[in-house]
Amino acid sequence: MLYRWSPRSFLRRPAAAGLAVSMLLGLCSCVESMAWAQSVARDARAERFVGELLGKMTLEEKIGQMSQIALNSPEGPKRDERIVKGQVGSLLFVKDPKEIDRLQHLAVEKSRLHIPLIIGFDVIHGYRTIYPVPIAMAASWDPAVAEKAQTMAAREASAVGIRWTFGPMVDIARDPRWGRMMEGAGEDPYLGARMAEAQVKGFQGKDVEHISADHILACVKHFAGYGAAEGGRDYDSSNISDEQLWNVYLPPFEAAVKAGSGSLMSAYMDLNGIPATGNNWLLTDVLRKRWGFDGFVVSDWDSVKSLTVHGFASGPEDAAVRAVNAGVDMEMTSTTFFDTLADAVKKGLVTQAKIDEAVRGILMAKYRLGLFQQPYVSAGRAENELVTAEQREASRRAAERAAVLLKNEGGLLPLKKSLNKLAVIGPLADSRPDLMGSWSLGAHPEDTVTVVEALTKRAAAGGPEVLFSKGVEIAREQVSIFDDQFPSPKPTLTTDEQKQAEFHHAIDLVKQADAAVLVLGEAQTMSGERASRLSLTLPGKQQQLLEAAVATGKPVVLVLVNARPLDIRWASEHVSAILDAWYPGTEAGNVIADLLFGDAVPGGKLPVTWPREVGQVPIHYGRQLNQIPNDWDTMYWDGSSAPLYPFGYGLSYTSFSVGGLKASAAKVAAGGTIEVSVDVANTGKVAGDEVVQLYTHQRAGSASRPVRELKGFRRVTLGPGERQTVTLTLETKELGFWSPATHAWGIEPGVFDVWVGTDSNAKEHATFEVTAK
Ligand code: NOJ
Repeated sequence: MLYRWSPRSFLRRPAAAGLAVSMLLGLCSCVESMAWAQSVARDARAERFVGELLGKMTLEEKIGQMSQIALNSPEGPKRDERIVKGQVGSLLFVKDPKEIDRLQHLAVEKSRLHIPLIIGFDVIHGYRTIYPVPIAMAASWDPAVAEKAQTMAAREASAVGIRWTFGPMVDIARDPRWGRMMEGAGEDPYLGARMAEAQVKGFQGKDVEHISADHILACVKHFAGYGAAEGGRDYDSSNISDEQLWNVYLPPFEAAVKAGSGSLMSAYMDLNGIPATGNNWLLTDVLRKRWGFDGFVVSDWDSVKSLTVHGFASGPEDAAVRAVNAGVDMEMTSTTFFDTLADAVKKGLVTQAKIDEAVRGILMAKYRLGLFQQPYVSAGRAENELVTAEQREASRRAAERAAVLLKNEGGLLPLKKSLNKLAVIGPLADSRPDLMGSWSLGAHPEDTVTVVEALTKRAAAGGPEVLFSKGVEIAREQVSIFDDQFPSPKPTLTTDEQKQAEFHHAIDLVKQADAAVLVLGEAQTMSGERASRLSLTLPGKQQQLLEAAVATGKPVVLVLVNARPLDIRWASEHVSAILDAWYPGTEAGNVIADLLFGDAVPGGKLPVTWPREVGQVPIHYGRQLNQIPNDWDTMYWDGSSAPLYPFGYGLSYTSFSVGGLKASAAKVAAGGTIEVSVDVANTGKVAGDEVVQLYTHQRAGSASRPVRELKGFRRVTLGPGERQTVTLTLETKELGFWSPATHAWGIEPGVFDVWVGTDSNAKEHATFEVTAK
């Protein structure tokens, strides 16, 4: 007999299944087999439940589950009607908890099969409390920071009924012109993979089969190669060799899949001539067959419909057919599935089995989230769990660990608390939205603490008096895609006279002060989606403002607010101290004030190579060697090709020494591990953090390998004078690579270099040999 499902009757099922589990357990004696039996029983229960539900669904209801609509899409107004008819599986961009609750009641009570919706949202670096942008979290070189931030973000999002995030974004980015560099972990596959898995764990919690009510489903994106868009132009094609794809662009995705990401988003662009959303090789051969992904795949916004725009599909039906057959299970916003799939199935262009496979994945995700048991928004959570003191504290600590000190000549930082007057200058110093960064769609700007506010509070408690002027305003000329939800602040200085007066006022304040802090960089909408740039200069007249401030002769600190390396060549030569705060989030002002006055010590490191100028990009440290490998000055005749700051670089208010590298063996068999240790000492006067980084290089093989590759790191805190031996375990499987000569993965025996140090120019060196197994 088929089990008839209703939310209430469903609650009775676990008891029966539990009995089956206990009976099975009764036969087992050891702990391992108990765990195995539990997982088998648990999966079997979910599968049986989903299988039974699928058996009752009409083709139209199945296609409904495969359709996601957005509030602001043309389908939005029809959502109630479609939900009741079982024609919607998911909604995105609904964030009002009352509305989410109402929509869930509609779906569960009024639709024939009572299937709850899965509500998705871009919870990228926080929901209501904003955490530092993902590139900043990567700069912490501390996966625990990313895990904690996403745990806290999941708690807030789930409190309003959002149970699915479109994150983590794990696209490798080596071209800072690309605005979406802000959403990922930067240029390196190893660091990227560690940040990817940490974020998946944070969002979903420990039990991916039963995601608890305060966690949300992850969606690793954008599969794959989006970060290599030609010229850094957003949405443009990526052409990536197989070698780069396997060794650089895919590893963070694989790590996220292995960490249990419950869903994945296909990318917009063409990858090597085939749109990622219609790419069978990516979505089926690599993702499912090779990696064993058992979640579901959602397209990006309209990217199924766009298969036609790409000149790939001949029309909406062809687009739907090719997306589904390639492995897309749910269509985001465009309606080709809804409009054409039923006919396509009848014509035999898509099999019933393929549809069932897609719907099974979506229903399993809803099951894993517990939505069949508790689809509604829990009363009280939205009122009590947003921007709490605990959230603010977590955001503050994350932003503190993310900051990177790029320069500190003469020990200008930390600033002396005994200063009388501090000029605080710049368009970002007192701007709430701009300090949060892009993808802060659930935030309320008024929650954000600005730099001026935090320093003024310190002044009231006996700190230096704050003299503030924005000096200049910056605005994006092109409208941002987020302007309808989150309009950019309107300029207030409209006439030339007003602009000049504010500029001069700012410089007068610098002259009156003992020191100046210039908070410069990019406004919120200048980085993120559809926010690519032709140049990397400081937008507007910020460079002139900086130069005029330095010309006063007063000590100047530049605080950068950004999510990509900017052209700060001039500043790197003429400004005494440069602190990269990134977009710090809700607690921005407090964090920056603490860092400026030494109540927090910067310890972050660059997750990207910082170019001198835009002509050097794309740029990254893991280059292939060439005929003149280190001749930085002749690769371009009109300038250096060396970066301004290397990958992994960052200073502290203290100093560290690293020495005494020891490898546990001179030879290791492929598959084994080798321990590499160094002595790290804090040689300065205050406690601080250092990130010990391990790089390797394979000297010869079937293909030439990068000059260096990061293969391990650890962030340590040491008190003044403290010394610690840091041991990093290098697993030889990390030395394996996909060879363009053999078209296969493998660890090739041979001699390897290993370096350990505090950035990608690490000096401590040894060699070891990897032998055949
Ligand atoms: C388009 C973006 O590319 C994607 O990252 C995002 O998740 C969706 N829009 C939904 O907002």
